Amino acid sequence: MHKSGYMPLIEALVKNKKRNIVPFHMPGHKKGRGIHRKFARLMRTNPFALDMTEIPGLDDLHNPMGPIKESQQRAARLFGADRTFFLVNGSTVGIHAALLSVCRRGEEVLLPRDMHRSVIGACILAGLKPRYLPLQLDAEYLIPYPPAPEEIAVMLERYPLIRAVFQVYPSYYGLAGDLSRTAEVVHRYNIPLVVDEAHGAHFIFSDELPQTALQSGADISIQSTHKTLDAFTQASMLHVKSKIIDDSQIARQLGILQSTSPSYLLMASLDAATGHLQMSGRRLMGRTLKIARYIREQISGIPGIKCFGEDLSQISGMAVVDPTKLYISFTDLGLSGCQAAEMLHKKYHIQVELCDRFCILCMLSIGSSPEDGDRLISALTDIASKSFPNGAEKSLPGPVNIPPPRVILNPEEAWFAPLRQVLLKEAVGKVAGELVAPYPPGIPLLCPGEMITSEIVALIWELRSWDCMFHGPGDPTLDTIKVVDSF
Ligand SMILES: Cc1ncc(COP(=O)(O)O)c(C=O)c1O
Repeated sequence: MHKSGYMPLIEALVKNKKRNIVPFHMPGHKKGRGIHRKFARLMRTNPFALDMTEIPGLDDLHNPMGPIKESQQRAARLFGADRTFFLVNGSTVGIHAALLSVCRRGEEVLLPRDMHRSVIGACILAGLKPRYLPLQLDAEYLIPYPPAPEEIAVMLERYPLIRAVFQVYPSYYGLAGDLSRTAEVVHRYNIPLVVDEAHGAHFIFSDELPQTALQSGADISIQSTHKTLDAFTQASMLHVKSKIIDDSQIARQLGILQSTSPSYLLMASLDAATGHLQMSGRRLMGRTLKIARYIREQISGIPGIKCFGEDLSQISGMAVVDPTKLYISFTDLGLSGCQAAEMLHKKYHIQVELCDRFCILCMLSIGSSPEDGDRLISALTDIASKSFPNGAEKSLPGPVNIPPPRVILNPEEAWFAPLRQVLLKEAVGKVAGELVAPYPPGIPLLCPGEMITSEIVALIWELRSWDCMFHGPGDPTLDTIKVVDSF
């Protein structure tokens, strides 16, 4: 029993702070190391003094006419947009607002299956009918490839009622497909290309990185400034550059989705990030890329450890790899990614962004330092020098076959339908009433409205045996699942 006044989250945060862990995870400011000096000073003195509301002189996010308007305009210039909106509920709210703006209720939208779960939230809110692109996984690393523009063309020909195309660029793992050709294809149909660029806000700051979604011709790009740059968590931006989008629609949707008390700390951190990056973005990104190159080179010399994208010919023509994302495999050592992540955390005080059965994902950003790189290399070298008789099996199981979804109801119809809870083993042939997204990385296996097949149930059993977690289901163990009552 704790004393009254005990603050469990504060305790946990303070404990984490004391451990002084090397951050290879989000947010990109890496404990404030990447932020503008002036903003750092202000935060050190009294952050509460900046935690304001819409009093005279401080403008209003929902009707910006003063400093917020000016700051958004400056961000638009920096990121190459016609208009930029500050977001205080992450890219999630930007994805919701974008899809609510470009489609009407009941219309069709073309989606990649490796979308983030917020896209299904948008389909529920906007009453959209999803059409899915086929999902192709890398045979060795099992991560999704971006859809080829040709596949998008085929789908647009086959389904002439599609009113918008949504793409993820780059993926969580840093794979960026050929978005310029995709934009050409999409615009032939005079419909908009909306891009989830949550993991690509930093692309504008180096010619060594893939070009940005807007440079590639996207109409809307949604970026998590907090993930790969230096804003506070939740602080994101939505950029518009388009001849076919009415940006007042976006303002209208954000008006009902965002809080009427948006945090000035979050907005200030977007302003600070913009100022900082306008001044030093290219230099800081150059330094980050140098650290990334160094780590990749060193990893290539460590026996038993490999980094995705070392041999770019694996994926040539399909995608470019963002060098700041290091997806590192331990399978040749007989070690799973999660076992490696646990060692890195406990023994070497290094925290990774994600681990799975085979790999870990480490994220670098302008807040990363060469010392972080040295710490990682020395930990990996040490791990590789040991043997793991009780580790995971050495061979990969081969590509996991993720079956294409059978959409019976639109997500909105299933979401609002009467539901009942059944045992998973009895759910075959029923229609899912909730999302099931194995985490990491959160790619939906089932969306509300999709048929639960025996293949999907078998895959859920298999993923459970790997200790995989699931986002979405009310019963996280997935012994039971909610299904639509009338099926
Ligand atoms: C690909 C992708 N899109 C969108 C989001 C949502 O972004 P946010 O956390 O800023 O709401 C995430 C979050 O992890 C993501 O990985």
